[in-house]
Amino acid sequence: MDAFAALRLQVEWGADEALEPLPRDRMRVAPVPERVAPRPLPEAQPAAPTVQPAVQPAPVRRAQEIAAAATSTADLRAALAAFDGCPLAATATNLVFADGNPQAGLMLVGEGPGEEEDRTGKPFVGRSGQFLDRMLASIGLDRSRYLITNLIPWRPPGNRNPTDNEVLICLPFLLRHIALVRPRRLVLLGALAARGVLGGSAGITRLRGRWHSATIPGLEAPVPALPMLHPAYLLRNAGAKREAWADLRLLRRSLDADLTQV
Ligand code: URA
Repeated sequence: MDAFAALRLQVEWGADEALEPLPRDRMRVAPVPERVAPRPLPEAQPAAPTVQPAVQPAPVRRAQEIAAAATSTADLRAALAAFDGCPLAATATNLVFADGNPQAGLMLVGEGPGEEEDRTGKPFVGRSGQFLDRMLASIGLDRSRYLITNLIPWRPPGNRNPTDNEVLICLPFLLRHIALVRPRRLVLLGALAARGVLGGSAGITRLRGRWHSATIPGLEAPVPALPMLHPAYLLRNAGAKREAWADLRLLRRSLDADLTQV
């Protein structure tokens, strides 16, 4: 198969980026290898570690310090835009910070931007965002009245899942965002958002269906948080809409009990 046919096949299969997971510095001049006489190998070579530690403490610590120093959401957005500690920032087109009304009392947290979000700089504007709008409309909510953000503010190349490191680096910014906005309720869309905010490793099917208490650094009281199935999952699994409907009704009932938020 020639290169053009191979490329066309990849596009037909859905590849929409020609990127590697991490940026490569192609401008760097490769060092010229020294010509040395080969030395005999020592008898016993210690095995090279094959697994790199998943946690990079320095960027995570830096993210925590920078996020903690932000005293407003505008500060936090500017700090994220200037932050170079997450490799995703280098491959994304736009920072996707948030959309909607920070005063609303209800904050929805998704996983990370897709192609449309990356292009426009706004969360949940692509296909799953349109489905989210319809989900909210089904219980009488207009998304523009609430605040919507993501755990990961930059699109992972080709919509791959973010790595554990990327999640750890981005999480302090999300937690600070929540602390600055002080929502009365959180909706966590998908496992990544739910695990990021609530901690632990439970799957979304175990977490959904009831309110949890999210402990947010900087807030005196826990915030009620409702994990829900992600709209993209619901688009692929129509049979799960029944669970989503049950969760939407939980949300509606909770908002009805707090008339200031309806
Ligand atoms: N999926 C998400 O989790 N967030 C977005 O912004 C878009 C799709």
